[in-house]
Amino acid sequence: MHIETDVVHGGQHPDKHTGALSPPIYQTSTFVFRDADHGARLFKGEEPGHIYTRISNPTIELLASKIALLESAQAGSVFASGLAAIFNVVVSTVKSGENVVSDDTIYGGTYTLFKNVLPDLGIKVTFVDATDIDQVEAAVNEQTKLLFIETPANPTLKIIDIARCVDSAHSKGIPLCVDNTFATPYLQRPIGLGADIVVHSATKYFGGHGDIIGGVVVGTQDFVKNMWKRAKDIGASLSPFNAWLILRGLKTLAVRMDRHCSNAQKIVEFLTKHDRVEHVYYPGLESHPGYEVACRQMNGFGGMVGFDVKGGKEAGKAIMNSVKLCTLAVSLGDVDTLIEHPGSMTHSGYSESELLESGIKPGFVRLSVGLEHPDDIIDDLDLALRKI
Ligand SMILES: Cc1ncc(COP(=O)(O)O)c(C=O)c1O
Repeated sequence: MHIETDVVHGGQHPDKHTGALSPPIYQTSTFVFRDADHGARLFKGEEPGHIYTRISNPTIELLASKIALLESAQAGSVFASGLAAIFNVVVSTVKSGENVVSDDTIYGGTYTLFKNVLPDLGIKVTFVDATDIDQVEAAVNEQTKLLFIETPANPTLKIIDIARCVDSAHSKGIPLCVDNTFATPYLQRPIGLGADIVVHSATKYFGGHGDIIGGVVVGTQDFVKNMWKRAKDIGASLSPFNAWLILRGLKTLAVRMDRHCSNAQKIVEFLTKHDRVEHVYYPGLESHPGYEVACRQMNGFGGMVGFDVKGGKEAGKAIMNSVKLCTLAVSLGDVDTLIEHPGSMTHSGYSESELLESGIKPGFVRLSVGLEHPDDIIDDLDLALRKI
């Protein structure tokens, strides 16, 4: 089936007990055993079934299998947040004394996890610019157990060649993990390009409405099974209700992504012509350094846009304080257009020099283009830009 059909029907069937079209929310912490031996058999893994929602739950399992289908992966797991998903990938592939090689332009929370938390667990992270494969290969050593990239990257929309990273990682015998949050499987499927693991902040386009926090990991059956053996004891489980909200959000993923992309395209056309705008970052622009790679590995350029305003940080702040329709808030992928300043907000864990090295200029403004009428978003931005 096409992905437009899979987002609606994939993995889902009417409830076998009641015929309900919408999947039941199994809002329970625990599951009752038929007798003591039944409970013991479930704990030993001798019989399939549910024990306790931190370990498994039918609503959560439905979501995990649906996302695996959408990403063309063998299996999936879901977590309480995108960061919990990334943390579990790392601790199931890398041990104390070993290291991760990561691109340097990633979500600020992932960056601080890598820079501040993992070293306390004995896991070192080496940051490189993964658009330069020589840098990746120079950084990988005997102790490297994971290559991690985000593409398009948060916040600069840097595009990394997934297939090249696959070749490089596999030639060194390590897996490649791609954070596919910005693209979603509707626009990009890293597993089809050879990636081993894909993670998402389901908080973003999957949920789509700005009302949940969740995370996803997909990969091979063996990888997901082994990861879950630890993850169930780490305990970052998603709630059944949030799993259900993500399932509901996914049904409209294709139509939402189409509109996010077409709105973003119109806003990019407006911004590139605006005399107060210095530079626009969007992989759909032919002038974008990653344009050709994006055309090869994506089916559309997404709903995220970045721009530098003439006048730097103060001018950027003035815009964010002037907009009326665009909402000044972090997060992304919502129906609402959201505007923020990565340098002082989502990416404030980067030092000033790290921001510059990752291409995040002081005045860089990030826009998550929503589903409002594009002319209304443009009018709002225009009024704000004219005030600086
Ligand atoms: C690309 C990307 N990955 C991961 C995360 C972390 O996800 P969460 O906030 O759901 O933990 C975010 C959050 O903004 C993100 O933008």
